[in-house]
Amino acid sequence: MNSDELKSTIQMIASAGKGILAADESTPTITKRFSALNITCTEDSRRQYRELLFTTPDIAQYICGVILYEETLNQTSSQGIGFAELLAQKNIIPGIKVDKGLINLPFSEEKTTQGLDGLGERLISYKKLGVRFAKWRAVFSISDNTPSALLMRTNAEDLARYGAICQEIGIVPIIEPEVLIDGNHTLEQCAKISEKVLHQVMHKLYKHQVMLEYVILKPSMVTPGKNCQVKKNAMEIAKATITVLKRTVPGALPTINFLSGGQTPIEATANLNAMHQVDQSLPWNVSFSFARALQEPCMKAWGGDPKNVTIAQNSFLQRCKLNSLASLGQYNPSLEKP
Ligand code: 13P
Repeated sequence: MNSDELKSTIQMIASAGKGILAADESTPTITKRFSALNITCTEDSRRQYRELLFTTPDIAQYICGVILYEETLNQTSSQGIGFAELLAQKNIIPGIKVDKGLINLPFSEEKTTQGLDGLGERLISYKKLGVRFAKWRAVFSISDNTPSALLMRTNAEDLARYGAICQEIGIVPIIEPEVLIDGNHTLEQCAKISEKVLHQVMHKLYKHQVMLEYVILKPSMVTPGKNCQVKKNAMEIAKATITVLKRTVPGALPTINFLSGGQTPIEATANLNAMHQVDQSLPWNVSFSFARALQEPCMKAWGGDPKNVTIAQNSFLQRCKLNSLASLGQYNPSLEKP
């Protein structure tokens, strides 16, 4: 284990004013996103779309890392440059999603994450291609009887085992426990579950000797469920989120990069910004690792048509910039174009 490489990776990821682009949608997920916009989904259209994102001029001002899907890691730009290399040339760190998606937790309605078998060998081969950080996502659904104690224990254990395997190989792990926004639960219920989940995850990281100094935490924000009648504003969401994080996440962990989880792009940006209003000296770097909240307007503007590349890149750059401002507490809704 070489902690120097973990250290240099985490320092770049925790740079103030920068965040992570999650462009690691699995093929079924990006197919769904494309087909909602009538974009044909082929290996080449996915490649073209990702090339559009990564070659956006000035993206490195706001983005320090990109999470790739394995298919993209093995693809090249239209100039024949591998995508990991293309990003590294811009001083953006390539990362990769390494979990293999969700499977049923036997004898229950819940889903856990698979992918630990052979993980070490996969990480070694990704590292040879320039990958320096990885991502593993576990999900927790809120209902009257979920998440169960068994699921919370299982997911926390697997996140910690994955984290330890990554660090031993010199790869910084993104630990992503996502409390899903689907449902009609209240903000208070979400806070209670998020606290339990994060508490267990931190405990298991300790048990597996994962060094918190070299971990990126990617949690969901504490929000009411999508179908909850009682809506909350950005300040209320930020207060609840920061309260839960302060109770559970040690200051040794350098950076928290939120997922957007189905919030609109503007909501996600406003909520991130509000975290910095709640507390102006947070113990961690607090930034973003969004997929939908960074990409939605851009994917729509592109629509699969090469003629729209520049307009789509402008729209992507705008979201990167506004989220960068939000990660410094300097965003203002008046900056949104009508
Ligand atoms: P969203 O920001 O769309 O929730 O996606 C984040 C993510 O986890 C993909 O890695």
